[in-house]
Amino acid sequence: MTPPKPEPRADRVSLWTYLRLFRRDILSAQPARLYRAWMAEFRTPFFRSYLCNDPALVRRVLDERPGDFPKSGRVTEGLRPLLGRSVFVTNGEEWLRQRRIIDPAFEGGRLKEAFPAIWAASEAAVARMGEGEVEVELAASHAAADVIFRTLFSIPIEDRVAQAVFHEFRAYQRSAPILNLAAFLPLPRWVPRLHRGATLRSARVIRELITGLTSARAEAIAGGRAPLDLATKIMTTPDPVTGTPFGTVEMVDQVAIFFLAGHETSASALGWALYLLATHPEAQGRVAEEAAGLRPEFGTAGSLRFTRDVFREALRLYPPVPMMVRENVTEEEFRGRKVRRGAQIVLSPWHLHRHERIWERPDAFDPDRWAGEGREAAREGYLPFSRGPRVCPGAGFAMLEGTLMLAHLVRAFRFEALEGRVPVPVAHLTVRAKDGIWLRVSRRA
Ligand code: HEM
Repeated sequence: MTPPKPEPRADRVSLWTYLRLFRRDILSAQPARLYRAWMAEFRTPFFRSYLCNDPALVRRVLDERPGDFPKSGRVTEGLRPLLGRSVFVTNGEEWLRQRRIIDPAFEGGRLKEAFPAIWAASEAAVARMGEGEVEVELAASHAAADVIFRTLFSIPIEDRVAQAVFHEFRAYQRSAPILNLAAFLPLPRWVPRLHRGATLRSARVIRELITGLTSARAEAIAGGRAPLDLATKIMTTPDPVTGTPFGTVEMVDQVAIFFLAGHETSASALGWALYLLATHPEAQGRVAEEAAGLRPEFGTAGSLRFTRDVFREALRLYPPVPMMVRENVTEEEFRGRKVRRGAQIVLSPWHLHRHERIWERPDAFDPDRWAGEGREAAREGYLPFSRGPRVCPGAGFAMLEGTLMLAHLVRAFRFEALEGRVPVPVAHLTVRAKDGIWLRVSRRA
């Protein structure tokens, strides 16, 4: 069975139709030719935008000259109430300094230290999973939020503050559709950004809760009784160049993005991976077989090869971050076309991952491709975590988390598709199913 893909729009539509479709969902607002084209130019009265699938262009923007293609200010505008000046939205020197402090917390060796917390969260996800008809996206959100709370602040999702942050994030998601628009429909700068009252309120509540957590942690660090988790590591790491660590507000900004980038994305990937396994019972059987050998030690991840490839393939078909937007600071030439300064440069994992000139059977779920042809194609067209200096710092963490979660859940439960309930992918903050992902869940004998 071919995994669901949104119906593309007609090739030519008016600007207003495009905007209307866009507002509904950016994935189905695009024409089918983007799965074949190396580049597409969109002209509107206010701006030009270029969607780049050509691997050489992607390399130029992300790897070779990232400084000339900063994050588009128009995108980050919509995220400011929640994220302040977090590493996700800054550019230049400010961003570089933040990465110098954050990156060491995610280095290979550190991953090993996070393992027990990820393991415990996986066991908790198994204990929480219901049987019968279950909406697994919500279960995945719970599980991913649990991982973040345990690894960042050494608290499980059952903690009162953790619960409050989790619920407020869900409210934030629902009230902030403007994110999509701000990202891909760059309005002229004089248009005021209307953040809805509910969005602002949610952002304020989340930031207050996080401020409480970080202040308590600062006290614990000062008192010499802080656990050695991600928060402590980041709060006690001075910038190697200037010697100063994050201040309190700056740390709140970073924690906000860790919650958002860390749990929304992983939850989306886990939900889709479970759906793909439910619709491919043979692959699910192989994961269950592999998972029978799970051991509570870091090395166990190395033996989950096939499970890891399933997770990779889920990230290919349903990249949680479907598109990324940059802005060129100088005039450029893209495939022989002049690109004026300030254009919106769109890199689209969604289209690259299903590009017909890069992938064989691009829309098919085939985890085995990662043991062969997939690796070659991935060099040209696989960006679930972006690439270059701005690559997701949590990539290794997320791969470990996704693989372990899948193995735990599939070892304990059988997941089956429900007739007539095919999830439709839509882009919210991340790629989600329009009405959730409903599966039949039963405990394995
Ligand atoms: C499957 C899970 C994940 C996926 C698919 C993912 C994907 C991405 C992508 C595509 C970006 C680049 C966005 C852009 O340039 O516009 C990014 C950035 C980022 N991610 Fe992740 N991510 C995941 C998990 C995580 C986790 C677990 C953490 C932290 C605990 C994390 C923290 C971040 C941060 C801080 C950034 C901003 C980096 C910067 O701009 O320099 N992510 N992620």
